[in-house]
Amino acid sequence: MSYVNIIAEVRGKVGLITLNRPKQLNALNDDLMDELGSALATYEADENIGAIVITGSDKAFAAGADITVMQSLTYMEAYKGDFISRNWEGVKNCRKPVIAAVAGYALGGGCELAMMCDIILAADTAQFGQPEVRLGILPGAGGTQRLPRAISKAKAMEMCLASRNIDAEEAERSGLVSRVVPADRLLDEAMSTATRIAGFSLPVVMMIKECINRSYESSLNEGLLFERRAFHSAFALDDQKEGMTAFVEKRKAAFTNR
Ligand code: HXC
Repeated sequence: MSYVNIIAEVRGKVGLITLNRPKQLNALNDDLMDELGSALATYEADENIGAIVITGSDKAFAAGADITVMQSLTYMEAYKGDFISRNWEGVKNCRKPVIAAVAGYALGGGCELAMMCDIILAADTAQFGQPEVRLGILPGAGGTQRLPRAISKAKAMEMCLASRNIDAEEAERSGLVSRVVPADRLLDEAMSTATRIAGFSLPVVMMIKECINRSYESSLNEGLLFERRAFHSAFALDDQKEGMTAFVEKRKAAFTNR
């Protein structure tokens, strides 16, 4: 598929999306987000794809929503158009695992986009921040909600209130990213993690993602019940029989449920 603001390619069982407005440090505008949503929907519908990677350039994953677009936006336009929810839901609603591979700046909407993904892998060059306060606005795509859930309240407050960026090492220490890798290894590590996930049973992988996300939305007891029911349903899958039989027969499982 051919896009202008992203590059979408399939490598094995992984859909790889590269944000591609390098001159604007991948500033996120409607065209880019529409294309991102379309690529995600395509990969979601493709039963051969088991995981998705979103990445940017060496210098920037994304330096935020496009400020030149927002500069003249009025309250009425923002409110009536429900500014930014329209084409950002695709990331949040994607049911297959999505890995953000972040090098360089992940600021504002860029940090929020990374946080919508299921796993963030950071290059040692990565910088995360919510600098909206400098522009006279506040985070609008989950920064004030996902950040305190991912890191401490105090750190989230300092990042959003004082516009303090954190580097990759601090992001890992605070739990925002799953791990830090050398910049020149970032894509390989992200692709190999995605390929590993894509080799497992797709419905089981989707259930795991749904259950972990559920933990944010429910009490512990509700979440445990949700997990238990999903766990029971896994026994309806051929992949459960295959996975356990392969263990008993000391061979590698070949999962077929897609
Ligand atoms: C539009 C942007 C941009 C952005 C960078 N550019 N960020 N354009 N929107 N968010 C453009 C610059 O204007 C410049 O264009 C080119 O990209 C290169 O950027 P420089 O500033 O020259 O690079 P550098 O000096 O290396 O500084 C990098 C930077 C800085 C520290 C990341 O660009 C910066 O502070 N950007 C803004 C970061 C920010 O405030 N993000 C939050 C946005 S609000 P020209 O034409 O001059 O070469 C937001 C709200 C989200 O995200 C709400 C929900 C979606």
